[in-house]
Amino acid sequence: MCGVVAVLGKENASQLVVEGLKKLEYRGYDSAGIASVSQGLLQTIKSEGKLVNLTQKLHRSTKEKLYLNNSIAVGHTRWATHGNISFENAHPLTSENKIAIVHNGIIENFEILKKDLTSLGYNFKSKTDTEVLPHLFMKYIKLGNDLLEAGRLVLKDIKGAFAFVAMSVDFPNQLFVSRNSSPLAIGLGDNAKFIGSDAHSIDHLTQRIIYLEDGDHALLKINNLDIFDKDYKKVSRKIINIHAEIGLITKGGYNHFMEKEIFEQTVVLPQTTSSFIKNKSEIVIDFDKFGFKKKQSLIICAAGTSYYAGMVGKYWIEQIADIPVIVDLASEYRYRKPSIFGQSSMLVISQSGESLDTLMALRYGKELGLKTNAIVNVEGSTIDREVDYSLYTRVGPEIGVASTKSFTSQLVILFLIAVGLGKRFNNLKTFQIKKKCQLMNMLPSAVANMLETENQIKLVAKNIKNSKSVIFLGRGLLYPLALEGALKLKEISYIHAEGFAAGEMKHGPIALIEENVPVIMFLISDGNENKSISNLQEAHSRGAKIILIADKKCIDKAPFAHFTVEIPDFENEFQSSLSPLLMSIPAQLLAFHVAKERGTDVDQPRNLAKSVTVE
Ligand code: G6P
Repeated sequence: MCGVVAVLGKENASQLVVEGLKKLEYRGYDSAGIASVSQGLLQTIKSEGKLVNLTQKLHRSTKEKLYLNNSIAVGHTRWATHGNISFENAHPLTSENKIAIVHNGIIENFEILKKDLTSLGYNFKSKTDTEVLPHLFMKYIKLGNDLLEAGRLVLKDIKGAFAFVAMSVDFPNQLFVSRNSSPLAIGLGDNAKFIGSDAHSIDHLTQRIIYLEDGDHALLKINNLDIFDKDYKKVSRKIINIHAEIGLITKGGYNHFMEKEIFEQTVVLPQTTSSFIKNKSEIVIDFDKFGFKKKQSLIICAAGTSYYAGMVGKYWIEQIADIPVIVDLASEYRYRKPSIFGQSSMLVISQSGESLDTLMALRYGKELGLKTNAIVNVEGSTIDREVDYSLYTRVGPEIGVASTKSFTSQLVILFLIAVGLGKRFNNLKTFQIKKKCQLMNMLPSAVANMLETENQIKLVAKNIKNSKSVIFLGRGLLYPLALEGALKLKEISYIHAEGFAAGEMKHGPIALIEENVPVIMFLISDGNENKSISNLQEAHSRGAKIILIADKKCIDKAPFAHFTVEIPDFENEFQSSLSPLLMSIPAQLLAFHVAKERGTDVDQPRNLAKSVTVE
């Protein structure tokens, strides 16, 4: 989603901004731009598509001396919301070539503001909501306000979620910045200041970071930073020392980040496990902090892949700890007036810690009086900072838009929450707890074995790459995985895919079956496999191409399958308890190889963003 970077007080600021934008590429974008002020002139360069287009333009302009050296610049990667993907709609957006704005979020009342500004003679060149910002600044500066005063008047006018930076030729050594619900970090340098949508985007410039709080605005000068809260009271916000992650963010010999992230699960999952299991069977989760002083229901909210992890979590927590769990899409929770009867605790799940839907659900849960907890990967993210208690997946940066190692590490924590709650409310005996912790320790080698299914998966990928639509089926713990498998495939290969509970097929989805439609089932011998095989048989009788990803016993029971991917033999309890963790490996590999066959952009699929900071 949109990324914002700004540099003040460093030579070649534009170049440094572009380097920051590169680090935000993972968030997803469809156009990019930069602007700087030099010798009293505002210069803007924008382009559609990838950053390389922008850097080529910048290169040419610098070579032809059309683009001047500068020590102040703002930059942006845009993920279109209002207005299509075009040069005009790309940021920075300007007014009278004197003000430049880069913005992440949505100005909800832009239509009315645009009407007023148009009647005052301001000329709108784009179809964006953002363009009201430069014109509003212009209007207030023309009335004699300085940048800070103008910014404050703009904030009074606008409604919505935003993080924006304003730069003006009239105040060539200042930047105005504000945030409301969208993420923003300020970096402190020696005689320099930096701004980024996340701390990583400016960690090549400084490791001293301040996160603005919601409603804050700030005026940055080379040697000064004034931060104000929503009541204009001067405030000081904590300076955090971060570690540069530059070394970690490489493809490590793979061609795609997603591929690397799938294969490194054997190494990173133990990082998650080891921070939650001590002395072999001690689960290090503070359930008092979590809001579980007594046995009550739990509400889980999340989006996308994290939501499916939450669904698996519900099955585990109900089975293992006998605690009722409600799982809700974060985007629905806040607007449906949920009842909190019997609940004291909310758990949100988010890789990025920035998904606005999830953040809003969390804030709403807080308002309702729930204790809030998060399973989160990015430490220091907004969700991490706002919850009462964070459980970190600690799998390192995930760059591929399609979530892989984050999903499995979220599952690890959810399983341990289930075991921990089972212990707390005497639903598990000591030997059972020990056993379940042992299962977790067997996970890395099991994941390594599952990765060996890759060659079988490649054959399936070749076979289904031209399908128009694919159906995924699963039952019990593997039902959420069917949903996740379908999401993964559609996200990166753009093939229409749907996941269903196997038993639900006959209640409608079976109408979709026609000759050669691939039906992919995840199956494990867990006592219910015969029922699922019957569901598969029903699809087979109607001409579907049956693809079974299963253990040998199940495969033997379904000789009618057209393709099979045999998973290794694991101990029964391990296999049936942790089936969603195991099966997520072939699900990820399948999506990856189909996308590769189709030649799509695996790491940055069209229209998607890694960190979705609009509602
Ligand atoms: C976006 C991504 C999904 C991701 C979801 C939740 O929609 O495209 O792949 O699962 O956000 O992200 P989060 O960072 O909150 O886990």
